[in-house]
Amino acid sequence: MSVISGFSKFSLSQRLDYIVNHSDLNDSDALKFKEYNAPDENQQRLYTEMIENYIGNFPIPIGIVTNMVINNESYIVPFVTEESSVVAAASKAAKFWARHGGFHAEIISTLKKGQVHFTWNGDPDYLNQIFPRIKIKLLEGTAELTDKMRNRGGGIIDLSIINKTSEIPQYYQLDASFETGNAMGANFINTCLEKFAYLLKSFDELNNADMQVEVIMSILSNYTPDCRVKCWVECPVEKLNEWNKDLTNNSLSYKIKVAVDIANLDVSRAVTHNKGICNGVDAVLLAAGNDFRATEACVHAYASRDGKYRGLTNVTITDDTFRYELDLPLAIGTVGGITGLHPLVKNALAVMNYPDSQKLMMIAAASGLANNFAAIASLVSTGIQSGHMKMHLSNILNLLHTDTNERNLANEYFNGKTVSHSAVNDFIESVRRKI
Ligand code: MEV
Repeated sequence: MSVISGFSKFSLSQRLDYIVNHSDLNDSDALKFKEYNAPDENQQRLYTEMIENYIGNFPIPIGIVTNMVINNESYIVPFVTEESSVVAAASKAAKFWARHGGFHAEIISTLKKGQVHFTWNGDPDYLNQIFPRIKIKLLEGTAELTDKMRNRGGGIIDLSIINKTSEIPQYYQLDASFETGNAMGANFINTCLEKFAYLLKSFDELNNADMQVEVIMSILSNYTPDCRVKCWVECPVEKLNEWNKDLTNNSLSYKIKVAVDIANLDVSRAVTHNKGICNGVDAVLLAAGNDFRATEACVHAYASRDGKYRGLTNVTITDDTFRYELDLPLAIGTVGGITGLHPLVKNALAVMNYPDSQKLMMIAAASGLANNFAAIASLVSTGIQSGHMKMHLSNILNLLHTDTNERNLANEYFNGKTVSHSAVNDFIESVRRKI
């Protein structure tokens, strides 16, 4: 196996040549990586310099969910997703709930967290005793770094020492909580943590001939159970028949409740259930230029916070009121990162009327709830395949490079029929044979 060095120093053409010479990609297909370049040179430079070893832009569609009413405010919500039916499902749920009071959302807390992991060979009781003094010195030592954030109402909220020596010898954590305002705050948090690490190593109280701090690592935690939003919808049970007229109200509300209860007790169902929530959440966060890998990792850890992985939504039916609720950790931001750089992220934020981070938490949660409600309501009634079929057919027709006439014939032929790749292929081949 050959190891290549210096790929990052190659020009774009050299990179593509290298790939063509060392993979199954041919010369003409390699040129497709350039087909999605921005027309404007400065804008293109933005993408070229956004990541390392760049070779091209990778388009994913952006669509719009209308009628999203949250706390009586109406939003147009951009979704970036490659998955058919996600936008349609969220739109259907948003429209339905807009007629029944809209989504309600509440920020539960906005604390983010980071840790300095270190070992120390001193006496734990002594550490507990001197920590109040150490804490003051750590806060003083980072005052310059936190100055601007404090002016914006944020900063370091608390510091504590967690003794983990029973799990790993001499291992402690400096646990820090932060408020980062409208920023996701990863850079701010990591900069503070690295300064704490430096200070911990330099304090005489902790470091002398007999004892020494050894820093293992300093990094924010993407587990943010204290940065959370609650979102819910509710309506009289009888109103649910507007969603699906084929089922009686009680039957639909009962089946939705049981489906959500199943996700709360069965991991195989819970993962798929939560994936459906992430369909909406990730699509909004991607449009808003946020790190959806971080929130997704947190969502799944939060789903197993009591030791068992569960669905994140809950349904209650009391006194004929149907209530569907989502409790979601989301550490996100509307400033910093690529939010001010990426032209389409800027557009997406404008489309949502420039939300602050708390509003974006609510919009993302409402989107997740919309997708989850639509999925469950379909699963317990018509099934999801009928909704998926139209987009599925159109994706297959594109794959087969069909023209308008072939597409019209296929749409007519497959109306009400099961769509599969081989059935569509056979149909298009038969059309082409006749011509
Ligand atoms: C598909 O992307 C998402 C669903 O599977 C979610 C669910 O099953 O709840 C439809």
